[in-house]
Amino acid sequence: MSDLPPRPGSVPPDLAEALARLRGGSGVCPEVAYFASVGSTNDVAARLADRGAPHLTAVVAEQQTAGRGRMGRTWFSPPGAGLYVSVVLRPVKIVPGPITFLEIGPGPNTGVPLVTVTAGVAFAEAVRACTHLPVTIKWPNDLVIDRRKLAGILTEASATGEFEYAVVGFGLNMRSAAYPPEFADRATSVEAELGRAIDRGAVLAQCLAAVAQWTDLLGAGKVDAILDRWRTLAPTARGAEVEWSGPAGVVRGVTEGIDHDGALLVRTENGVERIIAGEIKWV
Ligand code: BTN
Repeated sequence: MSDLPPRPGSVPPDLAEALARLRGGSGVCPEVAYFASVGSTNDVAARLADRGAPHLTAVVAEQQTAGRGRMGRTWFSPPGAGLYVSVVLRPVKIVPGPITFLEIGPGPNTGVPLVTVTAGVAFAEAVRACTHLPVTIKWPNDLVIDRRKLAGILTEASATGEFEYAVVGFGLNMRSAAYPPEFADRATSVEAELGRAIDRGAVLAQCLAAVAQWTDLLGAGKVDAILDRWRTLAPTARGAEVEWSGPAGVVRGVTEGIDHDGALLVRTENGVERIIAGEIKWV
């Protein structure tokens, strides 16, 4: 693997206290690495994981120069406008059932959708707790307020090397400068919603604590509790009219919830379709 970014930058005041607390043996994360600027925090976390970094190692950056979104998109990541954080997750326990936490790996029918669902619940709960905003989840894992995107989650897994792990990356718009102006009609930020700034460090600490708590539940095989919470946080996963691009063109249907693996079920004129990855649009 190529090298990690050479030098962490000086920590901005709004993150300094939280980072110091997190590194001071809070019991949540074994390591929180901070960088002023990186390509993508997911890449840095993956490099650390390849070198053996333990479960819940976190990487935080003030700015990303090659931030990645889902489906090959760019995640706009200007300095200080958002929270850009990635967490290393490792299988912690073999649990029985068709999908286990140990099955983390690339490709369909692995634990990755469940890891993504778990991360969605964790980040949604954390942001709700810190901001008291009515944040909901749009399948698979966007955090939205009134159909405007507030945050995105990118889960990437590796099971090919000596170490098996997943990296979950979270990008939260703190200020409207976090997204390009042309996204203004479909994106929002914490500051725009609240009409004031809030402590980014507190949000970071709450997010990491929530990821620890919810992945513990996953490791303990409490999949139903996680799916139940996800369903409550994602009201549009049931009864919403949606469309998406299938191999034969645009398909329309009405959402019917998620199944036990985190796949979205949509009733179409040809029956119920099971979507494991991709993007749906509300219509
Ligand atoms: C999406 O909604 O498309 C997912 C966006 C994920 C963005 C975060 S920011 C931190 C981490 N590093 C990245 O390069 N991407 C994720």
